[in-house]
Amino acid sequence: MKSLLSRSLLCRSLLCRLVLLAVAASVLAPPAAALTLGEKTKRLARQEFRKSAQRSCLPALPCFKVRNSYPKLAKPEVLPWRDIDYRTEPERYLRAVLAYIGAGNTAVDWQLQKNRKRDWYHAAWMHPVREPVRGLTFERGSRLHELSAAQTRRTNNWAIGFYNRQGATAFARVWRERSQPDTAGFAFPEGTVSAKLLLTDATDEEAPYLAGNNLAWQADIRGNGQPVTLRLLQVDVAVKNAPRDGLNGWVFGTFYFDGRGGHANYWDNLVPAGLEWGTSPTFTRADFAAGQRPTQGWVNPVAEVLFATRAPDGKLGYLGRMNGPVDDPRSSCLACHSRAMDMQGAADPPLFPPFAASRIRQVSVAPNQTYETVLAAGPVDEAQVALFFRNLAPGESFDGTHPSLDYSLQLAKGVELWRAWLDKQVAGSGPQPLAPESLAAPAGGGRGN
Ligand code: HEC
Repeated sequence: MKSLLSRSLLCRSLLCRLVLLAVAASVLAPPAAALTLGEKTKRLARQEFRKSAQRSCLPALPCFKVRNSYPKLAKPEVLPWRDIDYRTEPERYLRAVLAYIGAGNTAVDWQLQKNRKRDWYHAAWMHPVREPVRGLTFERGSRLHELSAAQTRRTNNWAIGFYNRQGATAFARVWRERSQPDTAGFAFPEGTVSAKLLLTDATDEEAPYLAGNNLAWQADIRGNGQPVTLRLLQVDVAVKNAPRDGLNGWVFGTFYFDGRGGHANYWDNLVPAGLEWGTSPTFTRADFAAGQRPTQGWVNPVAEVLFATRAPDGKLGYLGRMNGPVDDPRSSCLACHSRAMDMQGAADPPLFPPFAASRIRQVSVAPNQTYETVLAAGPVDEAQVALFFRNLAPGESFDGTHPSLDYSLQLAKGVELWRAWLDKQVAGSGPQPLAPESLAAPAGGGRGN
């Protein structure tokens, strides 16, 4: 709230004030009373916690097993990128992180339980939105031309994320009581690493750089027992370093698959698309128009050219900020993830500033299919836009009230799904499994589906 108020001094337009009021309304709502669960509900909640997916596995295909037996303690570990400065050598830094993530995981096809090299864990309580074969969850689909000029339908993207052992110790604290998360004072320790594989049903014609891609998984994304083949398109990484230069220490980076690399192992064909260590909060539309670029990140110029058809301004993220090929160009990695909070039943904060403030919008080119960023002419309300591009202090919450979940949107999602389940328990008389439709259209698809 403090930061919102101090920003409100900059907030002069009526629209900006209205938005602040809306944020403040959620801020001033009374804090959610601590819930006391009955014994039966607790027992059922613990059963739910152990579930990997809602629907059954398919014959002759792998069967996803969640790994959420979180360790209380981390093991001492020297992170290989410790001596690489991500601001001056972003590409080298990213490659070191990528090697760490792939080690022991590529050989076992990402069945974390079998990794002999390092411990990795899944976020808990995402089973209501996971498909059963690979544990994938629904992601924002790629709009027309986002993947290449030849892409003329919206493609489907599905993903799975993991945390290293350091990160999992924070999950251990939240889920100490398996039946009820405790998010108070949540923070990840330094050395936390998270990664996410994003797969697509795009064809070679739609995304020519996917040719030769040998990370191809079958998955039950339609929920009808007829699996669809998906291939690796993007790998996201997030690393929590020590805070420095007034920034909170989070570094988010991304890679895309390019078969033209010609390596036999798909992991070696991943190309860094960029890295973000801050949201470049003071970077304005006028700066962008003057040809400047955000300073708290690095974007690979090769990636920018490859994905230049994804939006008329040819940028991966908002005003040239870093973002992934499948991500919404109105945002950036850190901007979207700074919204991670335990909303305690309240609605998620908006993903983007409204058009009236940012003058950036989606333009429909066919039903349900869009080009996304059009930078329209007109005055930009920079103070209001800036609310969405802040570098939060460690522990600071996006809206100033709801507990910060330290940039983890999977933790936020898991806690939200747990609460939705609990509400149904309380409303109904007996156990009520979540509707299978929640797979096709997950509640509040936070990535801007
Ligand atoms: C517009 C919102 C949005 C943007 C932009 C975005 N993400 Fe995410 N991300 C999400 C959501 C929602 C989840 C959790 C749900 C899921 O995994 O499907 C997530 C999950 C993740 C995870 C798994 C751990 C976690 O924090 O939950 C990683 C790692 C990640 N994203 C990295 C990135 C990187 C790197 C970028 C930029 C290249 C990025 N994200 C851009 C919304 C976003």
